[in-house]
Amino acid sequence: MYKVAIIQKIHQDGIDLLKNNPNFEYEIIEDASEQNLIKVLPNFDACTLRVSNLNKRIMSNCKRLRVISRHGVGYDNVDLDYIKKNKITLLITATANAIAVAEHVIYMMLSISKGINKYDHEVRIGNFKKNSSNIITFELFNKNILIVGFGRIGRCLIKICKAFNMKVEVFDPFVSKQIIEKFGAKKIENLDEGFKICDYLSLHVPLTEKTRNLINYSKLKSMKKNSIIINTSRGGIVNENDLNKALDENIIFGAGLDVFSNEPIEKNNLLLTNKKVLLSPHSATFTNECKSRMSLETTKNIIDFFDNKIDKSMIVKL
Ligand SMILES: NC(=O)c1ccc[n+]([C@@H]2O[C@H](COP(=O)([O-])OP(=O)(O)OC[C@H]3O[C@@H](n4cnc5c(N)ncnc54)[C@H](O)[C@@H]3O)[C@@H](O)[C@H]2O)c1
Repeated sequence: MYKVAIIQKIHQDGIDLLKNNPNFEYEIIEDASEQNLIKVLPNFDACTLRVSNLNKRIMSNCKRLRVISRHGVGYDNVDLDYIKKNKITLLITATANAIAVAEHVIYMMLSISKGINKYDHEVRIGNFKKNSSNIITFELFNKNILIVGFGRIGRCLIKICKAFNMKVEVFDPFVSKQIIEKFGAKKIENLDEGFKICDYLSLHVPLTEKTRNLINYSKLKSMKKNSIIINTSRGGIVNENDLNKALDENIIFGAGLDVFSNEPIEKNNLLLTNKKVLLSPHSATFTNECKSRMSLETTKNIIDFFDNKIDKSMIVKL
Protein backbone atom coordinates (compact mmCIF):
# COMPACT_ATOMS: atom_id res chain seq x y z
CA MET A 1 0.00 0.00 0.00
CA TYR A 2 1.47 3.39 -1.03
CA LYS A 3 0.86 6.36 1.24
CA VAL A 4 0.12 9.68 -0.47
CA ALA A 5 0.24 13.06 1.26
CA ILE A 6 -2.12 15.55 -0.36
CA ILE A 7 -0.43 18.78 0.67
CA GLN A 8 -3.22 21.38 0.58
CA LYS A 9 -6.59 20.11 -0.56
CA ILE A 10 -7.27 19.60 -4.26
CA HIS A 11 -10.55 19.10 -6.17
CA GLN A 12 -12.46 16.03 -4.98
CA ASP A 13 -12.27 14.28 -8.40
CA GLY A 14 -8.57 13.56 -7.98
CA ILE A 15 -8.96 12.51 -4.36
CA ASP A 16 -11.69 10.04 -5.40
CA LEU A 17 -9.27 8.44 -7.84
CA LEU A 18 -6.98 7.53 -4.94
CA LYS A 19 -9.89 6.59 -2.72
CA ASN A 20 -11.09 4.05 -5.28
CA ASN A 21 -7.69 2.46 -5.79
CA PRO A 22 -6.91 -0.38 -3.34
CA ASN A 23 -3.14 0.16 -3.67
CA PHE A 24 -3.19 3.65 -2.22
CA GLU A 25 -4.13 5.40 0.96
CA TYR A 26 -3.99 9.16 1.40
CA GLU A 27 -4.08 11.92 3.96
CA ILE A 28 -4.92 15.55 3.35
CA ILE A 29 -2.39 17.87 4.95
CA GLU A 30 -3.84 21.37 5.20
CA ASP A 31 -1.02 22.79 7.31
CA ALA A 32 1.72 23.20 4.69
CA SER A 33 4.08 25.07 7.01
CA GLU A 34 7.72 23.94 6.98
CA GLN A 35 7.44 22.97 10.62
CA ASN A 36 4.48 20.67 10.03
CA LEU A 37 5.82 19.11 6.83
CA ILE A 38 9.14 18.28 8.54
CA LYS A 39 7.08 16.39 11.10
CA VAL A 40 4.59 14.51 8.90
CA LEU A 41 6.04 14.06 5.41
CA PRO A 42 8.55 11.27 6.33
CA ASN A 43 5.55 8.90 6.58
CA PHE A 44 4.71 9.10 2.88
CA ASP A 45 5.84 7.49 -0.40
CA ALA A 46 4.39 10.27 -2.54
CA CYS A 47 2.95 13.73 -2.21
CA THR A 48 0.95 16.19 -4.25
CA LEU A 49 2.07 19.80 -4.20
CA ARG A 50 0.24 23.04 -4.84
CA VAL A 51 1.91 26.36 -4.02
CA SER A 52 3.74 25.59 -0.77
CA ASN A 53 7.50 25.04 -0.72
CA LEU A 54 9.34 21.74 -0.60
CA ASN A 55 12.87 22.53 0.45
CA LYS A 56 15.83 20.46 1.60
CA ARG A 57 15.03 20.99 5.29
CA ILE A 58 11.62 19.40 4.74
CA MET A 59 12.76 16.60 2.46
CA SER A 60 15.99 15.52 4.16
CA ASN A 61 14.13 13.16 6.51
CA CYS A 62 11.74 11.85 3.86
CA LYS A 63 13.51 8.59 3.13
CA ARG A 64 10.36 6.99 1.70
CA LEU A 65 9.48 9.83 -0.65
CA ARG A 66 9.81 8.67 -4.27
CA VAL A 67 7.61 11.06 -6.18
CA ILE A 68 6.27 14.61 -6.00
CA SER A 69 3.24 15.32 -8.16
CA ARG A 70 2.82 19.04 -8.84
CA HIS A 71 -0.74 20.30 -9.18
CA GLY A 72 0.29 22.58 -12.07
CA VAL A 73 3.26 22.93 -14.40
CA GLY A 74 5.61 25.38 -12.66
CA TYR A 75 8.01 23.95 -10.08
CA ASP A 76 10.02 26.85 -8.73
CA ASN A 77 8.75 25.89 -5.23
CA VAL A 78 10.73 22.61 -5.23
CA ASP A 79 14.43 22.20 -4.37
CA LEU A 80 15.48 20.65 -7.68
CA ASP A 81 19.10 19.98 -6.69
CA TYR A 82 17.95 17.98 -3.69
CA ILE A 83 15.43 15.82 -5.56
CA LYS A 84 17.88 15.19 -8.39
CA LYS A 85 20.56 14.00 -5.96
CA ASN A 86 18.07 11.85 -4.09
CA LYS A 87 16.36 10.40 -7.16
CA ILE A 88 12.92 11.74 -6.31
CA THR A 89 10.77 12.04 -9.43
CA LEU A 90 8.91 15.29 -10.11
CA LEU A 91 5.69 15.11 -12.13
CA ILE A 92 3.57 17.95 -13.56
CA THR A 93 0.01 18.21 -14.91
CA ALA A 94 1.24 18.76 -18.44
CA THR A 95 -2.07 18.55 -20.29
CA ALA A 96 -4.49 20.01 -17.75
CA ASN A 97 -4.18 23.76 -17.68
CA ALA A 98 -3.08 25.40 -20.94
CA ILE A 99 -6.58 26.24 -22.18
CA ALA A 100 -7.63 27.87 -18.90
CA VAL A 101 -4.55 30.10 -18.90
CA ALA A 102 -4.90 30.96 -22.60
CA GLU A 103 -8.54 31.98 -22.05
CA HIS A 104 -7.48 34.08 -19.06
CA VAL A 105 -4.97 35.92 -21.26
CA ILE A 106 -7.62 36.63 -23.89
CA TYR A 107 -10.06 37.76 -21.20
CA MET A 108 -7.48 40.21 -19.83
CA MET A 109 -6.59 41.49 -23.31
CA LEU A 110 -10.26 42.06 -24.13
CA SER A 111 -11.17 43.52 -20.77
CA ILE A 112 -8.38 46.11 -20.92
CA SER A 113 -8.87 46.83 -24.62
CA LYS A 114 -12.63 47.26 -24.33
CA GLY A 115 -12.47 49.34 -21.12
CA ILE A 116 -15.02 47.06 -19.49
CA ASN A 117 -14.26 48.06 -15.90
CA LYS A 118 -14.44 51.76 -16.75
CA TYR A 119 -17.73 51.47 -18.66
CA ASP A 120 -19.23 49.33 -15.93
CA HIS A 121 -18.31 51.96 -13.33
CA GLU A 122 -19.76 54.82 -15.40
CA VAL A 123 -23.06 53.02 -15.97
CA ARG A 124 -23.41 52.23 -12.26
CA ILE A 125 -22.85 55.84 -11.17
CA GLY A 126 -25.42 57.17 -13.60
CA ASN A 127 -23.08 58.46 -16.33
CA PHE A 128 -24.70 56.36 -19.03
CA LYS A 129 -22.96 58.04 -21.98
CA LYS A 130 -21.53 61.17 -20.38
CA ASN A 131 -17.88 60.07 -20.24
CA SER A 132 -17.94 57.50 -23.02
CA SER A 133 -15.88 59.60 -25.37
CA ASN A 134 -13.05 59.85 -22.82
CA ILE A 135 -12.69 56.10 -22.61
CA ILE A 136 -10.24 54.82 -25.19
CA THR A 137 -10.87 51.30 -26.44
CA PHE A 138 -9.27 49.01 -29.02
CA GLU A 139 -9.95 46.00 -31.20
CA LEU A 140 -7.78 42.91 -31.29
CA PHE A 141 -8.51 42.58 -35.01
CA ASN A 142 -5.35 42.90 -37.14
CA LYS A 143 -3.15 43.74 -34.14
CA ASN A 144 0.31 42.31 -33.49
CA ILE A 145 0.77 40.05 -30.52
CA LEU A 146 4.18 38.92 -29.34
CA ILE A 147 4.11 35.61 -27.50
CA VAL A 148 7.25 35.06 -25.44
CA GLY A 149 7.66 31.34 -24.68
CA PHE A 150 6.03 28.93 -27.11
CA GLY A 151 5.31 25.86 -24.99
CA ARG A 152 1.96 24.39 -23.98
CA ILE A 153 0.23 27.68 -23.15
CA GLY A 154 1.77 29.76 -25.95
CA ARG A 155 0.62 27.17 -28.50
CA CYS A 156 -2.88 27.15 -27.09
CA LEU A 157 -3.08 30.94 -27.03
CA ILE A 158 -2.05 31.35 -30.67
CA LYS A 159 -5.12 29.43 -31.89
CA ILE A 160 -7.46 31.89 -30.15
CA CYS A 161 -5.43 34.89 -31.36
CA LYS A 162 -5.76 33.60 -34.92
CA ALA A 163 -9.54 33.49 -34.51
CA PHE A 164 -9.36 37.24 -33.76
CA ASN A 165 -7.31 37.71 -36.93
CA MET A 166 -4.29 38.84 -34.94
CA LYS A 167 -0.77 38.79 -36.38
CA VAL A 168 1.41 36.66 -34.15
CA GLU A 169 5.14 36.90 -33.51
CA VAL A 170 6.85 34.36 -31.28
CA PHE A 171 10.07 34.63 -29.33
CA ASP A 172 11.35 31.28 -28.12
CA PRO A 173 14.98 30.40 -28.89
CA PHE A 174 14.26 26.74 -28.12
CA VAL A 175 11.50 26.28 -30.71
CA SER A 176 12.33 26.04 -34.41
CA LYS A 177 11.19 28.48 -37.10
CA GLN A 178 9.43 25.57 -38.85
CA ILE A 179 7.26 24.75 -35.83
CA ILE A 180 6.41 28.40 -35.20
CA GLU A 181 5.51 28.94 -38.86
CA LYS A 182 3.36 25.81 -38.85
CA PHE A 183 1.24 27.53 -36.20
CA GLY A 184 0.91 30.56 -38.49
CA ALA A 185 3.30 32.84 -36.62
CA LYS A 186 6.61 34.56 -37.34
CA LYS A 187 9.69 33.64 -35.34
CA ILE A 188 11.41 36.63 -33.77
CA GLU A 189 15.17 36.21 -33.25
CA ASN A 190 15.74 39.50 -31.49
CA LEU A 191 13.44 40.12 -28.56
CA ASP A 192 14.13 43.87 -28.56
CA GLU A 193 12.78 44.08 -32.12
CA GLY A 194 9.66 42.23 -30.98
CA PHE A 195 9.01 44.73 -28.18
CA LYS A 196 9.03 47.59 -30.68
CA ILE A 197 6.38 46.18 -33.00
CA CYS A 198 3.86 44.50 -30.74
CA ASP A 199 0.48 45.88 -29.64
CA TYR A 200 0.06 43.03 -27.14
CA LEU A 201 2.74 41.12 -25.30
CA SER A 202 1.95 37.86 -23.52
CA LEU A 203 4.53 36.06 -21.38
CA HIS A 204 4.69 32.26 -21.15
CA VAL A 205 8.21 31.49 -19.98
CA PRO A 206 9.47 29.90 -16.76
CA LEU A 207 11.12 32.12 -14.16
CA THR A 208 14.87 31.64 -14.56
CA GLU A 209 17.91 33.86 -14.12
CA LYS A 210 17.51 34.72 -17.84
CA THR A 211 13.85 35.69 -17.59
CA ARG A 212 13.90 37.50 -14.22
CA ASN A 213 13.21 41.20 -14.88
CA LEU A 214 12.87 40.45 -18.59
CA ILE A 215 10.38 43.31 -18.75
CA ASN A 216 12.03 46.34 -17.20
CA TYR A 217 11.78 50.09 -17.66
CA SER A 218 14.09 50.28 -20.67
CA LYS A 219 12.17 47.48 -22.45
CA LEU A 220 8.87 49.14 -21.62
CA LYS A 221 10.17 52.43 -23.04
CA SER A 222 10.84 50.74 -26.36
CA MET A 223 7.22 49.56 -26.68
CA LYS A 224 4.33 51.25 -28.47
CA LYS A 225 2.38 53.83 -26.45
CA ASN A 226 -0.86 51.86 -26.74
CA SER A 227 0.62 48.46 -26.05
CA ILE A 228 -0.78 46.09 -23.44
CA ILE A 229 1.24 43.52 -21.46
CA ILE A 230 -0.23 40.37 -19.96
CA ASN A 231 1.73 38.23 -17.51
CA THR A 232 0.23 34.92 -16.47
CA SER A 233 3.59 33.12 -16.25
CA ARG A 234 5.52 33.93 -13.08
CA GLY A 235 6.01 37.02 -10.94
CA GLY A 236 9.47 38.52 -11.20
CA ILE A 237 9.54 38.29 -14.99
CA VAL A 238 7.96 41.74 -15.14
CA ASN A 239 9.64 44.25 -12.84
CA GLU A 240 6.63 45.55 -10.92
CA ASN A 241 8.07 48.95 -9.94
CA ASP A 242 9.15 49.61 -13.52
CA LEU A 243 5.73 48.58 -14.83
CA ASN A 244 3.97 50.85 -12.37
CA LYS A 245 6.20 53.76 -13.42
CA ALA A 246 5.67 53.07 -17.13
CA LEU A 247 1.89 52.98 -16.67
CA ASP A 248 1.94 56.22 -14.66
CA GLU A 249 4.05 57.92 -17.35
CA ASN A 250 1.73 56.69 -20.15
CA ILE A 251 4.62 54.76 -21.71
CA ILE A 252 2.31 51.82 -22.34
CA PHE A 253 -1.50 51.62 -22.23
CA GLY A 254 -2.21 48.86 -19.74
CA ALA A 255 -1.28 45.57 -18.18
CA GLY A 256 -2.92 42.43 -16.85
CA LEU A 257 -1.17 40.43 -14.13
CA ASP A 258 -2.11 37.06 -12.68
CA VAL A 259 1.26 36.48 -10.99
CA PHE A 260 3.43 38.57 -8.68
CA SER A 261 6.97 38.63 -7.29
CA ASN A 262 5.53 38.05 -3.84
CA GLU A 263 2.34 36.09 -3.47
CA PRO A 264 -0.01 37.03 -1.92
CA ILE A 265 0.73 40.51 -3.30
CA GLU A 266 2.03 42.79 -0.54
CA LYS A 267 -0.36 45.45 0.77
CA ASN A 268 2.06 48.26 -0.13
CA ASN A 269 2.56 47.13 -3.75
CA LEU A 270 1.97 50.25 -5.84
CA LEU A 271 0.16 48.27 -8.52
CA LEU A 272 -2.77 47.76 -6.14
CA THR A 273 -3.78 51.39 -6.59
CA ASN A 274 -2.93 51.68 -10.27
CA LYS A 275 -6.13 51.66 -12.32
CA LYS A 276 -4.26 50.86 -15.54
CA VAL A 277 -3.47 47.36 -14.42
CA LEU A 278 -5.94 44.51 -14.17
CA LEU A 279 -5.12 42.05 -11.38
CA SER A 280 -6.08 38.47 -10.59
CA PRO A 281 -4.77 36.32 -7.71
CA HIS A 282 -2.79 33.64 -9.61
CA SER A 283 -6.16 32.25 -10.60
CA ALA A 284 -5.84 31.60 -14.33
CA THR A 285 -6.36 27.89 -13.76
CA PHE A 286 -9.22 28.27 -11.29
CA THR A 287 -12.01 27.37 -13.69
CA ASN A 288 -14.21 24.53 -12.47
CA GLU A 289 -13.13 22.41 -15.40
CA CYS A 290 -9.43 23.04 -14.92
CA LYS A 291 -9.50 22.41 -11.17
CA SER A 292 -11.04 19.02 -11.85
CA ARG A 293 -8.60 18.19 -14.68
CA MET A 294 -5.56 19.26 -12.63
CA SER A 295 -6.60 17.29 -9.61
CA LEU A 296 -7.31 14.17 -11.67
CA GLU A 297 -4.01 14.45 -13.49
CA THR A 298 -2.10 15.08 -10.24
CA THR A 299 -3.27 11.85 -8.59
CA LYS A 300 -3.38 9.81 -11.81
CA ASN A 301 0.29 10.69 -12.28
CA ILE A 302 1.10 9.19 -8.88
CA ILE A 303 -0.88 6.02 -9.65
CA ASP A 304 0.73 5.71 -13.09
CA PHE A 305 4.17 6.29 -11.60
CA PHE A 306 3.84 3.37 -9.18
CA ASP A 307 2.21 1.24 -11.92
CA ASN A 308 5.25 1.98 -14.13
CA LYS A 309 3.14 3.49 -16.88
CA ILE A 310 3.70 7.20 -16.37
CA ASP A 311 3.52 9.30 -19.55
CA LYS A 312 7.01 10.73 -20.16
CA SER A 313 5.63 14.23 -20.87
CA MET A 314 4.56 14.43 -17.20
CA ILE A 315 8.10 13.88 -15.89
CA VAL A 316 10.32 16.90 -15.31
CA LYS A 317 13.75 16.18 -16.77
CA LEU A 318 16.36 17.29 -14.25
N1 LIG B 1 -1.00 31.67 -13.98
C1 LIG B 1 -1.09 30.38 -13.77
O1 LIG B 1 -1.92 29.92 -13.02
C2 LIG B 1 -0.19 29.47 -14.53
C3 LIG B 1 -0.66 28.21 -14.90
C4 LIG B 1 0.16 27.38 -15.66
C5 LIG B 1 1.43 27.77 -16.00
N2 LIG B 1 1.90 28.98 -15.56
C6 LIG B 1 3.24 29.41 -15.94
O2 LIG B 1 3.25 29.70 -17.32
C7 LIG B 1 4.55 29.48 -17.86
C8 LIG B 1 4.46 28.69 -19.16
O3 LIG B 1 3.82 27.45 -18.95
P1 LIG B 1 3.82 26.32 -20.09
O4 LIG B 1 3.01 25.20 -19.58
O5 LIG B 1 3.49 26.92 -21.42
O6 LIG B 1 5.36 25.94 -20.05
P2 LIG B 1 6.21 25.14 -21.16
O7 LIG B 1 7.36 24.56 -20.43
O8 LIG B 1 5.33 24.25 -21.95
O9 LIG B 1 6.72 26.32 -22.11
C9 LIG B 1 7.68 27.27 -21.73
C10 LIG B 1 8.37 27.75 -22.99
O10 LIG B 1 9.26 28.80 -22.63
C11 LIG B 1 10.42 28.68 -23.45
N3 LIG B 1 11.52 29.42 -22.84
C12 LIG B 1 12.29 29.05 -21.81
N4 LIG B 1 13.19 30.04 -21.54
C13 LIG B 1 12.95 31.02 -22.44
C14 LIG B 1 13.53 32.30 -22.67
N5 LIG B 1 14.56 32.74 -21.92
N6 LIG B 1 13.03 33.06 -23.67
C15 LIG B 1 11.99 32.62 -24.43
N7 LIG B 1 11.42 31.41 -24.28
C16 LIG B 1 11.89 30.63 -23.28
C17 LIG B 1 10.65 27.19 -23.56
O11 LIG B 1 11.41 26.87 -24.72
C18 LIG B 1 9.22 26.65 -23.67
O12 LIG B 1 8.83 26.49 -25.02
C19 LIG B 1 5.34 28.79 -16.74
O13 LIG B 1 6.12 29.78 -16.08
C20 LIG B 1 4.30 28.31 -15.78
O14 LIG B 1 4.77 28.24 -14.48
C21 LIG B 1 1.11 29.83 -14.86
